[in-house]
Amino acid sequence: MKVLVATSNVGKLKEIERILRPFGIEVSRPPEVLKVEESGRTFLENALIKARAYFERFGLPSLADDSGLEVEALGGYPGVYSSRFYSIDFGGVEELKVSVDEANIRKLLRLLEGEKNRKARFVAWVVLYTGGGGVFGHGECKGKIAEEPRGERGFGYDPVFIPDGYSSTMAELPPEEKDRISHRGKALRNLIDTLSSLRSIF
Ligand code: IMP
Repeated sequence: MKVLVATSNVGKLKEIERILRPFGIEVSRPPEVLKVEESGRTFLENALIKARAYFERFGLPSLADDSGLEVEALGGYPGVYSSRFYSIDFGGVEELKVSVDEANIRKLLRLLEGEKNRKARFVAWVVLYTGGGGVFGHGECKGKIAEEPRGERGFGYDPVFIPDGYSSTMAELPPEEKDRISHRGKALRNLIDTLSSLRSIF
């Protein structure tokens, strides 16, 4: 099976390729990155919007991931705003003097200064859209927000996310370990399980 990955996020792309390879799913990168307005209020809506946009443009089965970080003390924020949290007027905006990932992390740590409740979770919804409809998968990874960034691996909020049961941040874990416990790994395996059950029914 061959699928087009509907994303411009290189961190996500690498992880999706790595997670799907053992299942014999060949992943291709889009010939062109589309500007898709993520106007949904939920991860699932946004994943569907992205997968459908790529399918309509390129005519190939398209896989999209919409994911983010939900922080309990912030009432679930940044959530669907995770990728551009620094610029969202929630407790002030952060100037973009560093990379987007760093600016997002700075804002998060600033908002959590002195906060004892550091519980958070990563959430991912993935959608495979084939024209006739979509199949989705969902995964979560619970943990807490570190006091300061640690580690060089991964992307996004990985340097400040400590998964439950670990003392390392996600950015300090080997990639295969992240894939085993991550929201994205779980969501993609959930999608594959659904595809397998559909195949056995039809
Ligand atoms: P999306 O492209 O709107 O789905 O953006 C997702 C954003 O959530 C990313 O840009 C990251 O900031 C954050 N995020 C999602 N998954 C991860 C992850 O596995 N590690 C760290 N940050 C993540």
